[in-house]
Amino acid sequence: MSDIPASGSAGENLEARVEVTRIAHVANVQTKVRAITRILGFPELYIFRAAISASELASNLVYHTTAGGTISIRGIRKKGCIGIEIISDDSGPGIKDVNMALQDGYSTGPGLGSGLPAVERLMDELEILVTDDFKTCIRSRLWYFCE
Ligand SMILES: Nc1ncnc2c1ncn2[C@@H]1O[C@H](COP(=O)(O)OP(=O)(O)OP(=O)(O)O)[C@@H](O)[C@H]1O
Ligand SMILES: [Mg+2]
Repeated sequence: MSDIPASGSAGENLEARVEVTRIAHVANVQTKVRAITRILGFPELYIFRAAISASELASNLVYHTTAGGTISIRGIRKKGCIGIEIISDDSGPGIKDVNMALQDGYSTGPGLGSGLPAVERLMDELEILVTDDFKTCIRSRLWYFCE
């Protein structure tokens, strides 16, 4: 069964799109993720996992892209489960080596190289796509089993 958008019990829209071009925007991403996961009824640990992951993806947009990008967040649902999907999109220059980028300690900048490996550990699903024209799309999902 494919995933469908989830809405809150009071019919709230559980989607947000945040432009990220500077570090202050990372806090906006965190706030949206926390709000949506709360409405979904996620327990605190899962809220934390999603918020940290979204922050890492957002900070990478600030530090590793030419013009920033967007973080799209939405509540999703599939048989017996609710989840959150966090998608990072940017217009380049692209992740040079995706396999290396998922290794702890690999960084092309001054960072520790722990952001993407942490996202892989904290989320249930992670897909990284770099297009031929050097755009990066990272899709991550965290599921909470409600039944
Ligand atoms: N959106 C992106 N566009 C281009 N390169 C990226 C992007 N996100 C990550 N990378 C590359 O992947 C590497 C690993 O990212 P990761 O978040 O794990 O570490 P970091 O950002 O370098 O350091 P840290 O997150 O620990 O401060 C980065 O150093 C960078 O080369
Ligand atoms: Mg990082």
